[in-house]
Amino acid sequence: MQHFLDIHTTDPAALRAMIDSARAMKDARGGRPRGATDDEQPLAGRMVALIFEKPSTRTRVSFDVGVRQMGGQTMVLSGREMQLGHGETIADTARVLSRYVDLIMIRTYEEATLQEMAEHATVPVINGLTNRTHPCQIMADVMTYEEHRGPIRGRKVVWSGDGNNVCASFLHAAGQFGFDFTFTGPEPLDPERGWLEFARAQGVDARIERDPFKAVAGADLVVTDTWVSMHDPESAKERRHNQLRGYQVNAALMAGANPDALFMHCLPAHREDEVTSAVMDGPASVVFEEAENRLHAQKAIMRWCLGV
Ligand code: CP
Ligand code: NVA
Repeated sequence: MQHFLDIHTTDPAALRAMIDSARAMKDARGGRPRGATDDEQPLAGRMVALIFEKPSTRTRVSFDVGVRQMGGQTMVLSGREMQLGHGETIADTARVLSRYVDLIMIRTYEEATLQEMAEHATVPVINGLTNRTHPCQIMADVMTYEEHRGPIRGRKVVWSGDGNNVCASFLHAAGQFGFDFTFTGPEPLDPERGWLEFARAQGVDARIERDPFKAVAGADLVVTDTWVSMHDPESAKERRHNQLRGYQVNAALMAGANPDALFMHCLPAHREDEVTSAVMDGPASVVFEEAENRLHAQKAIMRWCLGV
């Protein structure tokens, strides 16, 4: 049994095998992401708990559908309605759930909650987003890039906006999958230095460039995300909008990237804030493919965790 907690703590060969497995499962469905169970039923007889302490559309639905397609069953739990939200410790929750279910996926606030869950659970735990990282998303993003443009190794990815949890997992992937990564955004919203250093230590070019137009020169992929994340205080909204306005991904910025550059956003998007509709709905955008690939990538992650 293996936990899937983060991209930088997972073996690169295992990450690559998960992308290959996701692709094979997607191909086996012959272009039908919805409905119908898979021919192979590796999760038959298995129960999966999906715990949400924050809202979710994609993560919730794609995990739930993915488990069912592979023959397993799910239980979607809201943190607020569990004793977890009323003082029961994470460690005790992990011990109890491990008596009932075969796999736990949790979306939570503090990274420490995820780690404590993983430490005390005797079944695999998957990170469905914390304030600090969002690894399942970036597995889908790597898969999506490669479906459209071939190997991501050696390519240049540019992140424009807030150096948040999704940006962190992208930096981890830069190191593990071998692509260059440039962050462009205001200094107070820089990604953690340690994540840049992690990527550099794996031999890739990971850097910060304040000028978004200089940043996108030579970009193969431009990525952004919401300017205000679920864990950010509502009071930060106005300040962030002022800080980030110049980093909006619009047609002018995309025109500075390579002609065949793709655009990604993990969604939900705030149209006309971090990205314009012209880009979201334009020819470079693969945002809905990314959303679909959450399903396939997470199926591969669950199989790897369970060794099935
Ligand atoms: N991208 C993503 O994780 O979306 P949800 O918040 O809808 O799960
Ligand atoms: N950065 C966003 C991602 C949502 C999927 C958040 O944490 O709210």
